[in-house]
Amino acid sequence: MAEAANGLPRVRLEVAERQLELGVERATEGNHGIVMAPLLQETGLISLDPGFLNTAACTSEITYIDGDVGILRYRGYPIEQLARDSSFLEVALLLIRGELPTAGELEAFETRIDKHMYLSDDFRQIFSVMPRRAHPMATLGAAINMMAGFYPESLDPLDPSAVSLATVLMVAKMPTIISYIYRRAQGNALLYPKHGQSYVENFARMTFQLPGEQFDAPEVFYHALETLLILHADHEQNCSTSSVRLIGSAQANLYMSVSGGVSALSGPLHGGANEAVLNMLTYIRDNEIDPKEFMTQVKDKRTSVRLMGFGHRVYKSYDPRAAIVKVEAAAVLEALGVKDELLDIAYEVEQVALSDDYFVERRLYPNVDFYTGIIYRAMGFPASMFTPLFALGRLPGWIAQWRERIVDPAGKIGRPRQVYTGPGLRDYVPMEQRR
Ligand code: ACO
Repeated sequence: MAEAANGLPRVRLEVAERQLELGVERATEGNHGIVMAPLLQETGLISLDPGFLNTAACTSEITYIDGDVGILRYRGYPIEQLARDSSFLEVALLLIRGELPTAGELEAFETRIDKHMYLSDDFRQIFSVMPRRAHPMATLGAAINMMAGFYPESLDPLDPSAVSLATVLMVAKMPTIISYIYRRAQGNALLYPKHGQSYVENFARMTFQLPGEQFDAPEVFYHALETLLILHADHEQNCSTSSVRLIGSAQANLYMSVSGGVSALSGPLHGGANEAVLNMLTYIRDNEIDPKEFMTQVKDKRTSVRLMGFGHRVYKSYDPRAAIVKVEAAAVLEALGVKDELLDIAYEVEQVALSDDYFVERRLYPNVDFYTGIIYRAMGFPASMFTPLFALGRLPGWIAQWRERIVDPAGKIGRPRQVYTGPGLRDYVPMEQRR
């Protein structure tokens, strides 16, 4: 491949008799990007790439994935090191600001978060009018949208101090909101956050503490929760993050942009897969289906059955997050003294899939959602809460990506083109003449 003087590939496009030279944006790691913007003006053609299989919507300095070899890094730091050595709020600061915080910076952030975890009584009222049967993701999206109504002083996306406040309010109030959604569904009174308890301790207590009782969980519980939040904290331009960025490109405020991300995440092909995995494993157990037989259904293209928690647009090898979660699942269940036959079924399903040509040829491996639900279940969360837990983890990534988008000097409002394939011009037909 010919190279220009800057070491990047030289890209020439031939359209009819014309030769067009396109610029290339350099990546520090991974794929460089052909700059397609001049194409329309120079040739009258546009690029068509449904599902963005081959299209970068932005440049970004936040997260790097190499899906061929299973690498995931936040701001250059390997996910394995962050999951082992860091805390969730430390990772949140890393993603949002770009550097690991000093001890003083982290403490100041934790203090700010601690101060803002409570929700006013007016805000607490909104949970009482939400239907008890509502899916928690529906209530979560609505509650986050309502933050824009409760905190008008933090809405201006172009005012750095308003953005800083919105960032803290979102991170601080999200665990309280999610715990309230759970308690409302259970018919239990809403609890207040306690100063001095850590982020995950407050969240777990506000979620699970029963009237008249103390909530106590072993260290392994909090460690696993913290690890899962870190593993979910960002994943570059996935469906929900791209939604957050696209909404933000219209200069919509942070809350309403993140609420759009929550909607995207709810889908079973995205964050909703963790709940779908548990339902799938339960279905296999309850109907005593042999995993090999289940795989026949999955491979049959006449059915719409998919092996949930398997496959990924970017990873064509083992998802590094899934590798960590798999080890964590076994350790947590053992430490909590939980025996869950769904874990054994998951092991068996994974083994059958990984030795099946269908999955091997398509390079389908377990993704992060395959084992997470088993840990959440051992902690006491019902399946409907799994995707809100994903959202709690993903929040710093959404915030970091939204903030990057807002200040991106190259960032125009997001507005894809289309290749129109509908009817050509035709005249309106009066009703009585239609057949
Ligand atoms: N089970 C069965 N077949 C699958 C699966 C699966 N889980 N995933 C992909 N395939 C097959 C497809 O049928 C297709 O086969 P074909 O070439 O014969 O038509 C081929 O593999 C390629 O699949 P695509 O759907 O084209 O891949 P894409 O990158 O568009 O989709 C996705 C990725 C949505 C994650 C897909 O693998 C899937 O549906 N997985 C199950 C849902 C899931 O676990 N989602 C969570 C993803 S991780 C996350 O969002 C946090």
